[in-house]
Amino acid sequence: MKFGITSLLSAALLASTAVADSFSWERLEKNNSVLVIVDIQEGLFQMVHDWDPIVARHNMLAYASLATVFTDLPVVMTSSAEVGPNGLIPQEIRDWYPEAPIIRRNGEVDAWDNPDFRAAIKATNRTQIIIAGIVTDVCTAFLARSLRAEGYSVWAVIESSGTITPSIRDIANAQMLRAGVNVVSLFAVFGDLMRDWRHVPGSAELYGWIDEWMPSYSYFARAHKNAKLNGTILPGQDGLPE
Ligand SMILES: *[C@@H]1O[C@H](CO)[C@@H](O)[C@H](O)[C@H]1NC(C)=O
Ligand SMILES: *[C@@H]1O[C@H](CO)[C@@H](O)[C@H](O)[C@H]1NC(C)=O
Ligand SMILES: *[C@@H]1O[C@H](CO)[C@@H](O)[C@H](O)[C@H]1NC(C)=O
Repeated sequence: MKFGITSLLSAALLASTAVADSFSWERLEKNNSVLVIVDIQEGLFQMVHDWDPIVARHNMLAYASLATVFTDLPVVMTSSAEVGPNGLIPQEIRDWYPEAPIIRRNGEVDAWDNPDFRAAIKATNRTQIIIAGIVTDVCTAFLARSLRAEGYSVWAVIESSGTITPSIRDIANAQMLRAGVNVVSLFAVFGDLMRDWRHVPGSAELYGWIDEWMPSYSYFARAHKNAKLNGTILPGQDGLPE
């Protein structure tokens, strides 16, 4: 019996190819997902230093506003020590979802340790959980791993959580990846929920959201609209390749 190192290596390669071939991408379904807003609170916001505060606020509000356009998404909010130092969930977010539950935790660090929060998630009857919050390494990553341990699929939005330093954020995201969490951008969540620009909501319903929250695409779209409605080709521009 001779199993050389080469044949062992080939077997390992074949095995890893089989694993790669069996990959299946779980798509976000707007009829099976829930938007969870975790401890995005005015006091805790002071702990966010891995993003510029203007960028952090923008991306947290953009995230929180997703269910204003993807109206099939139920929203569950939770806060920690709201009447203590951690402060309120910003008024603008609460105003978007006056009917959504807010689970006000008075001790549990991991929202999943709170029975009312677990009940609120179960009441949605959805298995795909979209989350972001403050701070990335505790409130987001603890909950993400608890949800994974319970068999839920989880999407954690990179730029809509915040924490003290970029290195803490990066390790927290790596830990979530190892737990099988989909660590994704906000645009990835947007794109998979929409799925097709011709769907409803699609381009007709979503360009307003893009204009408010995604300036790099919205200014491009504005420029394209203006060029189309009122554009002109300058001398020299007409010689450019198509
Ligand atoms: C969600 O919608 C898709 C089609 O868009 C359908 O295949 C799927 O069964 C639906 N899931 C639920 C939980 O209703
Ligand atoms: C929960 O969802 C499953 C499919 O995902 C469905 O069969 C069931 O009827 C739903 N239950 C409620 C109470 O909506
Ligand atoms: C459209 O172009 C003309 C010049 O060609 C300009 O006077 C006018 O201000 C433009 N309108 C807008 C809305 O940009």
